[in-house]
Amino acid sequence: MEIKMANALNVKVIGVVFVAYFLCSTGQQCVEAQLERAYVRSNLTLRIVVRYPEIELVNRNLSTDLFIVGNGLGLAWNDPQQLKRPGSPDTWTIDLKFSGFLDGYACLECIHKNTLPVNGHLEYRILTNNRTDMIGPNHGIPVHISKLEAYFPVREHFSYPYFFSRHGSVHASAIASSIDPIIGNRIWGYYLPPSYSENSYKTYKTFLVPDLSPVYMELYRFSFDDIFVGQAIAEEVVLVGSEDYSLPNSDGRVTFLTPTPGIQYYCYNGDWSDNCAGCIPANVTGKEYMEYFRDGCGYPVEVGGQGDDYLNYMVNEVLPAIQLLTNDRLRISRDNLGIGGCSLGGLLACHAMWTRPNTFGMGWCKSSSFWWPTEINVDNGFHFLNYTIKETNLGPRAPQRIYIDVGELEEDPYYAQVSAALSVVDTMMTNSPQFRLDETLWFTLASEQTHGSANLYDSNLELFEPPQSTCRSCSKPKPS
Ligand SMILES: *[C@@H]1O[C@H](CO)[C@@H](O)[C@H](O)[C@H]1NC(C)=O
Ligand SMILES: *[C@@H]1O[C@H](CO)[C@@H](O)[C@H](O)[C@H]1NC(C)=O
Ligand SMILES: *[C@@H]1O[C@H](CO)[C@@H](O)[C@H](O)[C@H]1NC(C)=O
Ligand SMILES: *[C@@H]1O[C@H](CO)[C@@H](O)[C@H](O)[C@H]1NC(C)=O
Ligand SMILES: *[C@@H]1O[C@H](CO)[C@@H](O)[C@H](O)[C@H]1NC(C)=O
Repeated sequence: MEIKMANALNVKVIGVVFVAYFLCSTGQQCVEAQLERAYVRSNLTLRIVVRYPEIELVNRNLSTDLFIVGNGLGLAWNDPQQLKRPGSPDTWTIDLKFSGFLDGYACLECIHKNTLPVNGHLEYRILTNNRTDMIGPNHGIPVHISKLEAYFPVREHFSYPYFFSRHGSVHASAIASSIDPIIGNRIWGYYLPPSYSENSYKTYKTFLVPDLSPVYMELYRFSFDDIFVGQAIAEEVVLVGSEDYSLPNSDGRVTFLTPTPGIQYYCYNGDWSDNCAGCIPANVTGKEYMEYFRDGCGYPVEVGGQGDDYLNYMVNEVLPAIQLLTNDRLRISRDNLGIGGCSLGGLLACHAMWTRPNTFGMGWCKSSSFWWPTEINVDNGFHFLNYTIKETNLGPRAPQRIYIDVGELEEDPYYAQVSAALSVVDTMMTNSPQFRLDETLWFTLASEQTHGSANLYDSNLELFEPPQSTCRSCSKPKPS
């Protein structure tokens, strides 16, 4: 009662409150009752629309009935409501009629009057007629629009369930660059999540992971599947990667993943594996090692700097090619496209997100080579930290979500992996109000981890494509 009083006082801004007061002359009790009635907004409608190819059910000798179970607005777990079919193929719908009260939303006429709190989610699952539960996290909808709103038209929420496919698939294709002859023709892999083969209506956020070769994609496929199906901690996404960097006479990975040129030293005799045929003593620090190169053991060669060409190739040639191969089922608009990587890949991912905020909405930079480039005197230039995020693209930007991590054991005064990563996080927040720690920008110092050992493929997808529900392990079917 106390709480209701407080809420009632808050809504005195609504016009009807004053009307109610004048119509009622018998004191405070009466005013409260009038207030609450005046606030009720009935006849609100939420329409859940399910798109799913009926043929999948027919092929399994199942009837094409689908059911919904959920919480709130008259739905209760284990109390299936059938989805009424309006006659259009592959489409099921249910209209949830409900009312808004001061303390939340509830169904006026139904038996299960679970009330959804004002900021709550309606969560639900779709079942087939033989009670096969959908795979993955609950679907969910934030019901709340505005406390003061008296009416809104039917709102539709689309669901794309899948019931039978628990494994994603990996494919590869050669994709040529018609604009960059140095890039030429390279193999790209793409991971398609479990529902891809089953629900042809579903589309997916897409992540470029340049270092993720089709071979590694296949090796790690089970762990991607597990994120979406087993743990159900993220909605399904598509991953696109290559690691096909080969170039004659130079290190293609350095060439394509670095946004600016740098200096690489080569041995006069021998190579890195034998310390230039013994010219460099065995027991030296990272910086001393480079100084021996500079002071007689090796010679400098300019390398790298084609990162932006490679990004152009990925965005303008690779994505459209894979879009074609997947019947337009990739979502690659700015809010749906991410990029991630580790080491030089982390540098390129952060460079891409910072300099192309209208192309990339999110991504991760792990153990990133923020020290790049090494200069001729063997100092490291920290170009991304000292120039890119300090001098370019400052100020407000469209919302982005960025995850940065580095291993605790990576710190070395020469490469400054840990301190540079920390400075990058601080500088991003200082130079763009859009970045807020633990809301749109995450930083992890991975304890006792060395360079790149905080798993390259542990991509924190739950930060970028979180379930629509609050439930984190909803995939486990309830015992019936
Ligand atoms: C409820 O809303 C529908 C349209 O969404 C309208 O046709 C109907 O008249 C409304 N009913 C009441 C009781 O307001
Ligand atoms: C469906 O039914 C047909 C005819 O009874 C049968 O031949 C087929 O094997 C069944 N399919 C499945 C997946 O059970
Ligand atoms: C429902 O039917 C599918 C396809 O025939 C089958 O795989 C599944 O085990 C069945 N589920 C239940 C709960 O009987
Ligand atoms: C190698 O480096 C360590 C630590 O810097 C030092 O204690 C050790 O004496 C060095 N060994 C040789 C053979 O130079
Ligand atoms: C670049 O950043 C590094 C690391 O923060 C710093 O040591 C160095 O002095 C900076 N260089 C320039 C030219 O600002």
